[in-house]
Amino acid sequence: MTLWWQRGIIYQIYPRSFQDSNGDGVGDLPGIIQRLDYLQWLGVDAIWLSPTYPSPMADFGYDVSDYVGVNPLFGTLADMDWLIGEAHARDLKVIVDYVGNHSSDQHVWFQESRASRNNPRRDWYIWRDPAPDGGPPNNWLSRFGGGPAWTLDEATGQYYLHSFLPEQPDLNWRNPALREAMLDVLRFWMKRGVDGFRVDVAHRFMKDAQFRDNPLRPAWREDMPPYSRLVEVYTKNTPDNLEANRWLRAVVDEYPERVLIGELFLPLREMVAYYGEGDQYHLPFNFHLIFSPWRADVTRALADSYESLLPAGAWPNWVLGNHDQHRVATRVGAAQARMAMTLLLTLRGTPTIYYGDEIGMPDGEIPPDRVLDPLEKRSPGHGLGRDPERTPMQWDGGPQAGFCPPDVAPWLPVGASYPTLNAAAQREEPTSMLALTRRLIALRREQPALHEGDYRSFASPPGAFLFERGQDGDRWLVALNFTAEPITSPLPEEVSRAVVRLSTHLDREGETLAGQVELRADEGLVCRVE
Ligand code: GLC
Repeated sequence: MTLWWQRGIIYQIYPRSFQDSNGDGVGDLPGIIQRLDYLQWLGVDAIWLSPTYPSPMADFGYDVSDYVGVNPLFGTLADMDWLIGEAHARDLKVIVDYVGNHSSDQHVWFQESRASRNNPRRDWYIWRDPAPDGGPPNNWLSRFGGGPAWTLDEATGQYYLHSFLPEQPDLNWRNPALREAMLDVLRFWMKRGVDGFRVDVAHRFMKDAQFRDNPLRPAWREDMPPYSRLVEVYTKNTPDNLEANRWLRAVVDEYPERVLIGELFLPLREMVAYYGEGDQYHLPFNFHLIFSPWRADVTRALADSYESLLPAGAWPNWVLGNHDQHRVATRVGAAQARMAMTLLLTLRGTPTIYYGDEIGMPDGEIPPDRVLDPLEKRSPGHGLGRDPERTPMQWDGGPQAGFCPPDVAPWLPVGASYPTLNAAAQREEPTSMLALTRRLIALRREQPALHEGDYRSFASPPGAFLFERGQDGDRWLVALNFTAEPITSPLPEEVSRAVVRLSTHLDREGETLAGQVELRADEGLVCRVE
């Protein structure tokens, strides 16, 4: 028997950019509620909301100044209760972001912590004495900008650690009182009906207890992002970090059928360790489709090794996009984005769809004077800026794409593609990307073999990836063309005939394949094996 988060499809909402209901150019919770019918129509099972907590927005909500509140920009706690109720009424689960590695420097905990060395909350953050020369305690670098991960607090004469911005001091999970306070945050939201958490930078909670220097990266060059100068041996994925996972999981297990998802940027082998023995993450996020070259052979090898590395009982998952990465339609192109959605929704494991990817939204264009992302501001020129993938959802072809009132300036400009590339137009267009996404979702939901069946891959000609999903003798063949050239592949020996149930081009349904499969440029086929 599979659970909702195994069968289901997760849809990530970046609340600032989904729907503005009060005309301030920033999306909000009542706006999300207005769009729940759309999500129900689309057929997804759960929404994950990027942070909606009170925040000075130094990192657009990933700097939390109150873990048990709602930012007035997004609404009120009552709006959150309303959203949870409305979502549940539509059989949609609600997953919230949990930013446990660091808070905002405006959080009252940090205000107290920095007030004096003997404040009871001093140890809730990570404070160290200066090095003998008065400089930072060690060589650790900030992920944002590559400067020291330490800032000196003049008044108390010590440095505090911030893995990201100086406005995002790291919490000290080795302190039992801090730990209890943060675990209570999980309980607070579960009591309100939240169905799970996506844990921000889950691989960074516990740093090296001895604060050892990170080694230099031998192959580092000046043109690489400054923070990559060091190999992060002592700041991420430390042996102690797995402890933190268990603390979180134990609390999540106090409530039935909640899901714990971890944001992890780790090689497969290290990532799968975050399942623990069924006592850590339910779903350590698998970002490898984003970071691997977009090639059939690479993708097959990735899926095969992921499957072989998964511990017994562990459930896989796949991600094609999020608020930190360039959009899939920009990375692989519009035609391949359709194939990519076919891949995402037929692989074994829980898929996460980033808002707008269901219509093939590309990155938006951000003029230099509209750049907001602190990562871009601090490391310009490396293409790291995340504003392009955070532009407003393109709902329709009207002014501001239906995201906010026509006379209001949205917080980030609406993408130039919106007059033709938008959800309303695609709803009317039988062969649109939205139509394809919705058909894929419906097929996946309807067919147990596709949402919970086994996976095995087949030898495939260059440029193509063929695999099977099967359960109880019901077998499905997925054939994907990763290139812009047609490919003909013999059918695998184990498949004598198959009937096309869906093509990325939405036009071959019912066609019988025997002996071979012909894939047009950028085509993906989902077929039932006869
Ligand atoms: C995660 C978030 C990202 C944020 C960072 C710091 O990677 O996804 O948006 O900037 O953590 O909190």
